[in-house]
Amino acid sequence: MNANHKHKFAAVVLAAGSGTRMKSSFPKVMHRLAGQPMIAHVLTTLNILEPERSVVVIAPSMDMVRDAALETMPDCKLALQDRQQGTGHAVGCAEAALSGYAGTVLVLYGDTPLITESTLSRLLVAMQSADVAVLGMRIADPTGYGRLIVDSSGQLEEIVECKDASPEQKGITLCNSGVMAAKGTHLFSLLKKIQPNNAAGEYYLTDIVEQADAQGLHCHVVEAEAGELAGINSRAQLAEAEKVIQQRLRHKAMTEGATLIDPESVYFSMDTALGRDVVVHPQVVFGPGVTVEDKAEIRSFSHIEGAQVRKGAVIGPFARLRPGSVVGEAAHVGNFVELKKTTLGKGAKANHLSYIGDAEVGEGANIGAGTITCNYDGANKYVTIIGAEAFIGSNTSLVAPVTIGAGAMVGAGSVITDDVEADALAIARPRQVSKPAKAREIKKRKKKA
Ligand code: UD1
Ligand code: MG
Repeated sequence: MNANHKHKFAAVVLAAGSGTRMKSSFPKVMHRLAGQPMIAHVLTTLNILEPERSVVVIAPSMDMVRDAALETMPDCKLALQDRQQGTGHAVGCAEAALSGYAGTVLVLYGDTPLITESTLSRLLVAMQSADVAVLGMRIADPTGYGRLIVDSSGQLEEIVECKDASPEQKGITLCNSGVMAAKGTHLFSLLKKIQPNNAAGEYYLTDIVEQADAQGLHCHVVEAEAGELAGINSRAQLAEAEKVIQQRLRHKAMTEGATLIDPESVYFSMDTALGRDVVVHPQVVFGPGVTVEDKAEIRSFSHIEGAQVRKGAVIGPFARLRPGSVVGEAAHVGNFVELKKTTLGKGAKANHLSYIGDAEVGEGANIGAGTITCNYDGANKYVTIIGAEAFIGSNTSLVAPVTIGAGAMVGAGSVITDDVEADALAIARPRQVSKPAKAREIKKRKKKA
């Protein structure tokens, strides 16, 4: 946001509703989109506009929401809504935190996470000539949304909730997004006038419009794309919103110089960071906390979270990078390899069927197929260190804590429990025994029997 265009406003974000239709034991706004709770999406967008004050309204038992809010917006104030008596009541709970604020107050719902800062900015601009402004959207199937009743001059006269709408009003497709702005000087006095005489028995924030209109205040509608104003009241709507966010993230990744061979099949988190000329093959999932540097290649069916992939590394197909993994420059992690809290040095390779956890692997080391770091004894986790240019033979178990020195070799099928010196060869498996003609003898005996 350009400083010259900075709006002066305060924000109230409603997040106290439990969302009964989600059928969930989590607060509604904690449901995640692209790896982040809905409330974090709303606050991240709000942060861009730098409100003078922000209040998040939560219910008393919502520690999760409080933590998520403070993490995204550390200077926000929290207001408690003891009982969920409706959106109007919820905004009223923010009054003390906003006392003395006479500027524009923007109200956002925590369950409307797709909204963009440019749309909010348009609403704030509209407030220069209005006392109340509401973001409206046109939708073909407006079931569940409040309807905006606008007169021929463009004055918004009333918002009628779906539950309370007459059949005729239900035919209106101009809907309330829930996002509105009002002059601080009017907002709380208008709220005091509303009554819970409606189908839900709640104090509706939307009823302040009728009150404002009756007082001759200017109430305007600003229309915006339905795609970014969708409210999430159900799991189906959550999935719809996820689709929208994923489309945005795919587009962003490509705009910034990554190749997505089949964008529709790649799933991102809000914080996924891809460098230039990264190539992502079909069917890849990026969980939270992933950075992929320039020219790295992520092959199909890989699942990556909390990991850094350095320049030119190759991941997959069928690889799993778990939190705390760092794959060094030009290193390779191949099929059915899982890394957890492990650093692979530059050019190191683990190409087939391995679990490497709590490990440090030096530059150029080669980890053979089927190598397992036995990092857990049922109670504690231990570290495995593999030196630069070490070679671990196939099907080796490295029983941690254990160190394999630089340049050392481990014979295939070994169970390594003791440290191996640099440049040494360790073989830890029974010696092979071969008995001439023994097989023929056994077969004969069995046939007779
Ligand atoms: C609301 C609007 C409706 C609009 C729709 C858009 C009202 C009365 N209706 O309906 O006109 O079309 O959003 O999505 O406002 N909340 C609280 N405390 C409460 C109740 C709700 O904090 O007591 C919070 C919820 O967590 C949610 C938001 O307010 O984030 C909206 O509440 P919700 O119950 O989802 O309202 P809708 O029925 O969707
Ligand atoms: Mg809602």
